[in-house]
Amino acid sequence: MALLRRINQILLFLLVLTICVILYKKTYKVSTLKNETADDAEDSEEMEEEIPVVVCAAAGRMGAAMAAINSIYSNTDANVLFYVVGLRNTLSHIRKWIEQSKLREIKFKIVEFNPMVLKGKIRPDTARPELLQPLNFVRFYLPLLIHKHEKVIYLDDDVIVQGDIQELYDTKLMLGHAAAFSDDCDLPSTHEMVRSAGMQNTYMGFLDYRKKAIKDLGISPGTCSFNPGVIVANMTEWKHQRITKQLEKWMQRNVAENLYSSSLGGGVATSPMLIVFYGKHSHINPMWHIRHLGWSAEARYSEHFLQEAKLLHWNGRHKPWDFPSVHPDLWESWFIPDPSGKFKLNRGGS
Ligand SMILES: *[C@@H]1O[C@H](CO)[C@@H](O)[C@H](O)[C@H]1NC(C)=O
Ligand SMILES: *[C@@H]1O[C@H](CO)[C@@H](O)[C@H](O)[C@H]1NC(C)=O
Repeated sequence: MALLRRINQILLFLLVLTICVILYKKTYKVSTLKNETADDAEDSEEMEEEIPVVVCAAAGRMGAAMAAINSIYSNTDANVLFYVVGLRNTLSHIRKWIEQSKLREIKFKIVEFNPMVLKGKIRPDTARPELLQPLNFVRFYLPLLIHKHEKVIYLDDDVIVQGDIQELYDTKLMLGHAAAFSDDCDLPSTHEMVRSAGMQNTYMGFLDYRKKAIKDLGISPGTCSFNPGVIVANMTEWKHQRITKQLEKWMQRNVAENLYSSSLGGGVATSPMLIVFYGKHSHINPMWHIRHLGWSAEARYSEHFLQEAKLLHWNGRHKPWDFPSVHPDLWESWFIPDPSGKFKLNRGGS
């Protein structure tokens, strides 16, 4: 009897010991897990930083914005938040296109741009009225659209992104710079295009140097221009330097004094930016802004070069959804048909 009791005691002791070991292991495991979880959370927070990308979706060429967005989304694992900007009467079309296509997976906000802010700031007489589209000026007002992000990407609608947008977002802005752009003299292959197509790549092509206000800026007319179709911007610095106010001031002066060059290489939104950001912008890797694809219906880049390009920009008259255009295949592979059937590709009668 005594022996049995003793065995029972030993068994009970062993049982308690086992439970203790299990509990200890569990606690230890939990604490290890906690640490891992904490690390994970930190890592993923770093990786998952939200990348705001602003794209305008204009009536009549909304398919452009949708293709651009599709290309960005399909080529990255980054956490992208799209700000799709439109005029009031197009907002429901934009929403429908996104929500009734494969784009329904993207994170997006539809933002209305009120063209009233441009009143008195645009000269109506220009050779290319399409450049007066109010949405061309959205890039001047980025801080009005974006509130919770410091760093922002703005892209023209006629681009296709082939690289990981995270790389563009990681573009370093120098302290005191509100934005980064691609310079128009940065790539030898671009020089070739510029020469062959008779394009302007200096301030002279955008500003009228016969005007006193322009001469007084003291900017050499041969200074290399930049293209504001791809922008990485710092909203803190932008607000601090009151960039929007400065741009508006030059728009108003242009209305009064006609300061832009009549050839207007790249559109009316470029000229004021060239003035305001002169000597005060950072640089975007040239491969992140391969442009002039819309300049002529003939001037083509080599296939190899186009494959290396991270971002293609069809600036110019020959848009890849229209006919004739160059390298429309590279654009069309990202095209998403309009669920409402309004937007149609023009492939020259075929
Ligand atoms: C878990 O984190 C605590 C506090 O941060 C730390 O003291 C401990 O050493 C960590 N343990 C492990 C296993 O990393
Ligand atoms: C943006 O500008 C502010 C003010 O100059 C600066 O403190 C901040 O580090 C900049 N942020 C980025 C992402 O460059």
